[in-house]
Amino acid sequence: MSQAEDNAGSRRDFLYVATAATGIVATGAAVWPLVDQMNPSADVLALAAVEVNIADVEVGTQITVKWRGKPVFIRRRNEEDIAEGRAVALSELVDTDARNANEPGKEALDQNRTLDEAGEWLVMMGVCTHLGCVPLGNRAGDFHGWFCPCHGSHYDTAGRIRKGPAPQNLHIPISVFLDDSTIKLG
Ligand code: FES
Repeated sequence: MSQAEDNAGSRRDFLYVATAATGIVATGAAVWPLVDQMNPSADVLALAAVEVNIADVEVGTQITVKWRGKPVFIRRRNEEDIAEGRAVALSELVDTDARNANEPGKEALDQNRTLDEAGEWLVMMGVCTHLGCVPLGNRAGDFHGWFCPCHGSHYDTAGRIRKGPAPQNLHIPISVFLDDSTIKLG
C-alpha cells in the first residue's frame, strides 16, 4: 500500500467513525426528548399527592381543595352532622357501598365514611355521581349535607346520596392523616 493509499484509507476510516459517532449523537438527541416526556414533570408529580393543612378549619365548616384537577371537600363535622349521619340505617340508603377508597367494599355506615373514628373529618370528591357537577355544601339540601342543583341530588351529612338522580354516594379518595393538622390526598 502506497503512502497516498494509506492516508486515503485512514481518512475514510476517520470519516466513517466520525459519521457513526455523529449518528449516535443524533439518535441520542432524538430519543432523549421521548424519554424525558415519559418522566412525569414536577407539576404532575405535585398533583399526584397533596398535603393539606387543616389546622384552621373550624368545627362545622369545610374547605375545598383542588386535587388531580377535581375539587375535594374536607369537612370538619359538628355534633349535629355526626349525630344525623350515624342515626341513618343501611336500609334507608340508596347506595349501601361506602365508596371509600381507603376501605373498599365496606358498607355505607357513617363510621365507614369518615377519616377519623370520632367521625369529625369527612373527605370526599366534590363531584356529583350523577353527571359530575360540584354540589353545594354546608348543610345544604333536604338531608343537611350537600345539594347538587344541576338535577336535584341531595346528599346527607356523610355525603351519601339520599334523593335525586345521582346513583352513588360521593366518592372518598385515598387520604390519610400525616399528623394532627395535615391530611394527605393520594
Ligand atoms: S350532576 Fe348532580 S344531579 Fe345531575
